[in-house]
Amino acid sequence: MNINLAKKLREGTTKSHSMAENVNFVKSFLGGVVDKKSYRKLLANLYFIYSALEEEIENNKDYKAIQMIYFPQLHRKASLEEDLIYYYDHDWKSKIAASSATQVYVNRIHSIGRSQPELLIAHAYTRYMGDLSGGQILKKIAKRAMQLEENQGTNFYIFKSIDDDNKFKQMYRTALDNVPIGKETVDQIISEANIAFHLNMKVFQELNSNIIKIMVMLLTSNISSFLKSKTVFDINLIFYT
Ligand code: HEM
Repeated sequence: MNINLAKKLREGTTKSHSMAENVNFVKSFLGGVVDKKSYRKLLANLYFIYSALEEEIENNKDYKAIQMIYFPQLHRKASLEEDLIYYYDHDWKSKIAASSATQVYVNRIHSIGRSQPELLIAHAYTRYMGDLSGGQILKKIAKRAMQLEENQGTNFYIFKSIDDDNKFKQMYRTALDNVPIGKETVDQIISEANIAFHLNMKVFQELNSNIIKIMVMLLTSNISSFLKSKTVFDINLIFYT
């Protein structure tokens, strides 16, 4: 029986999607403002999130509902590790920690993985369909803004074992529609997907504060250099008038 889960997920998260697109960090990123330090922090947070998600998916892969959407070619942990080496060097593991919003997200994934594994579908959908959809644009923006060469630091956006992202997305949607669950679980998955979007927004919002800090620093350093130049200008005025 077709449960129309793909369509329901898309329609049921439209509002959350536009809210996520409007978080300052995401908007700045789209506008080409990418601060390398904030970006590597985002990747570090994503590393913890995908590690949790992929661990729970592996643990539950024989569970009927999860079997349907078990596609290891989507998994991002290994590609994130490659990027983290690029941004933090080989001792990256000792240099990163999950932010507090990331920890809440990770805890949620582990908790549903243990208590209600079918809800992992919501988390897989939110991240992987998003990565497949906006990934190529975001990769281009990151490359240009941080002046990266070839695939340096952008492995996260590359799905080596997927030839055609759109075809894959279509296949994923068909798989979602055939997950063997009832209406009540469908509704729970839609609610969980909205939670997943919200958790992502919280992670982005924490990175906003880094951008705000940078802006304040830039502003204060500009003001102080302006004041210094003004002082010189005033002194010049005193001498030459
Ligand atoms: C940077 C801002 C974003 C832009 C410009 C963007 C853009 C898009 C676009 C154009 C699609 C439609 C693709 C298609 O029709 O096949 C899409 C789909 C999607 N995006 Fe985003 N997105 C953004 C942020 C996010 C975020 C933050 C998330 C969640 C973490 C997300 C999750 C999704 C999901 C799950 C889909 C699949 C919808 C579906 O077909 O069911 N997106 N996105």
